Amino acid sequence: MIDSEALLAVLRRAPVVPVLIIDRLEDARPLGAALVRGGLPALEVTMRTPVALDAIRAMSDIEGGVVGAGTVLDAAQARDAVAAGAKFLVSPGATPALLDAALELGVPLLPGCANASDVMVAREKGYRVVKFFPAGPAGGPNYLKALASPLAEMLFCPTGGVSLENARDYLKLPNVICVGGSWVAPGDAVKSGDWARIETLAREAAALKP
Ligand code: 3PG
Repeated sequence: MIDSEALLAVLRRAPVVPVLIIDRLEDARPLGAALVRGGLPALEVTMRTPVALDAIRAMSDIEGGVVGAGTVLDAAQARDAVAAGAKFLVSPGATPALLDAALELGVPLLPGCANASDVMVAREKGYRVVKFFPAGPAGGPNYLKALASPLAEMLFCPTGGVSLENARDYLKLPNVICVGGSWVAPGDAVKSGDWARIETLAREAAALKP
């Protein structure tokens, strides 16, 4: 049984989940701390770089933060991420094996879904909260709006092409719990250690209201 409530408790804390690509381990803590100070406590560290697991470890005790792993592609990555301290998992798509692995691990997974069939596969496994990915190319707010009636019990976190400018178009939909996006942690700001800018971007994102 998937613990949707545990996932919802994390996702309800702020309207935006930052999607993080961390290349240098030493950036992990100051980056996470800046986002939390700005009001974004859920930190999705993507498993796209060699330091991702160490970054999750380094960020797991940031006060006020909840660290999770993104771009989780298979059961082995899910297990590694949880062992490193990830409290939630996010995937760009979903395979039955990954959906089962997260259930076995007992750690909330936000599985990627791009259409009604994807959502139905996740739903059959007991999932009620999914990521809509890639939100913009897959159809944007209008597509999600069209899923609300037939898939009434499902909640979505649209990610992929979401920005400060269009986030409200998603957040105002009744089936959207939050959005995800990398815009709050731009690569150039991370590279130059501009934590003040990232805190400001987080503050703007945290203030988003539908
Ligand atoms: C990604 O896969 O990189 C995330 O979904 C974030 O997408 P974004 O960079 O468009 O915010």
